[in-house]
Amino acid sequence: MKTIRNITIGLVATTLLIVGCADKATPAGDTKTVKAVTEESLGLRKTDIYSEESTAASKTEYRTEMAGASAKITRAFQDAPPMIPHGTDGMLPIKISDNQCTGCHMPDVASSMGATPIPVSHFTDFRPKHGVVDGVFKKAVDNYKNEVAIKKTDKLQGSRFNCTLCHAPQSQGNLAVENTFEAKYTSKDGANLSTWSGSNLTDGLNTIKDGENFVTESDIANKDSAAGYLNEH
Ligand code: HEC
Ligand code: HEC
Repeated sequence: MKTIRNITIGLVATTLLIVGCADKATPAGDTKTVKAVTEESLGLRKTDIYSEESTAASKTEYRTEMAGASAKITRAFQDAPPMIPHGTDGMLPIKISDNQCTGCHMPDVASSMGATPIPVSHFTDFRPKHGVVDGVFKKAVDNYKNEVAIKKTDKLQGSRFNCTLCHAPQSQGNLAVENTFEAKYTSKDGANLSTWSGSNLTDGLNTIKDGENFVTESDIANKDSAAGYLNEH
């Protein structure tokens, strides 16, 4: 009995299939080839959807060439912090008592090491020294006048001590999606050199140079008011 029912179901299914095919039958002579799309080609993973274990992103592979034997990496944009092109084995983490980066990159030794010297910006103190005068908090800069604190020093600034905060190594792994970004440098050697020195260092900080200044005369006149500025004032 069971077998007969199964056969019947089988027959019905076959009939449906035949009918289905007959419906979509293409006219004679018009043979279409439909390209098969494999699961492997559907997404970024390049594996079928059942193989989780063998599905892994390309490995992070930092360069291992010793400092002095590596090729510099083109800057991502004008004045981007350059990527570290050489291996950093044994150099990290940077400690207060052990910063090997400075051993080769400080301006006084850099040229003899063939390394790019740490630029002027890293020796410039941009931190305003606010203070308390007679128990009252006193700002060192007047933000209403668009003042910024800039002091050139001959000391590597603490804010720049931990180089890897901003300078990172670059992995050589294969990209899942090609990066087509093209940098437009504002200086002709921007691909390899910082312009952040001399007067250029502060140019970008003068934010109201060519534009509208939203600080009004009244703002300036009332800048010391503890309550802020009121129109009726
Ligand atoms: C043994 C000397 C040495 C040490 C230590 C060293 N570097 Fe370098 N660095 C170089 C040299 C030399 C180059 C130039 C590329 C080359 O020749 O390998 C360079 C290149 C660089 C660049 C690219 C500069 C550019 O103009 O594109 C960066 C960024 C950098 N190093 C950062 C670091 C950091 C951060 C550390 C510490 C983790 C460090 N370096 C430690 C010697 C050194
Ligand atoms: C707070 C982020 C920051 C830290 C920390 C930092 N840098 Fe930089 N570095 C930058 C930026 C941004 C630039 C590009 C603009 C400039 O020159 O200031 C740069 C540029 C450089 C350059 C290229 C100079 C040139 O003339 O092209 C070198 C070399 C460099 N840094 C080395 C170092 C080293 C070594 C340390 C650690 C002692 C360090 N930096 C710490 C942000 C940083």
